[in-house]
Amino acid sequence: MVVLLVAWGCASSALDAVDPALFDATPTWTADIRPLLDRYCVSCHDGDSTFDGGLELATYEAARGTRIPDACSASSPEVIAAFADVLVLPTEYGDGQPCPSWAPLSMPPGAGAHLSPAEQVVLMRWIETGAPR
Ligand code: HEC
Repeated sequence: MVVLLVAWGCASSALDAVDPALFDATPTWTADIRPLLDRYCVSCHDGDSTFDGGLELATYEAARGTRIPDACSASSPEVIAAFADVLVLPTEYGDGQPCPSWAPLSMPPGAGAHLSPAEQVVLMRWIETGAPR
């Protein structure tokens, strides 16, 4: 972690402000991810609306299943770059590149508030640690 901080310290980065402990954390669906998606996403992606591209994020199973596109569309390019190894889809769906089809920070759409860099790291760590319930 010290090495990462020194490396990032050279260029100003939104990641500089993120608590280093979050990069080692193991977030869970119940304690961390569900409240985050409830706040930013579930108003549209509630599984009961047509204005959501058919994506449901209100249950563990659904959010676990779409975790890579979710994290890609809710995160900034620099957070995506930092976690590129966990954002690669199985080859039958992707081309081996991280986030093949989802634009960074495209969700929530429009002028809605985006996840903070720290919240983006929490979402990435959830995926990296196997999306525990
Ligand atoms: C204001 C409503 C709204 C909110 C809030 C919202 N979305 Fe969406 N989302 C949509 C709509 C509408 C679509 C389908 C049209 C599109 O892709 O732009 C969509 C599409 C998506 C897709 C693409 C699905 C696909 O198969 O291509 C993903 C992934 C996604 N949203 C994730 C999220 C995440 C994660 C959040 C929270 C951080 C979020 N969305 C918040 C309205 C919303």
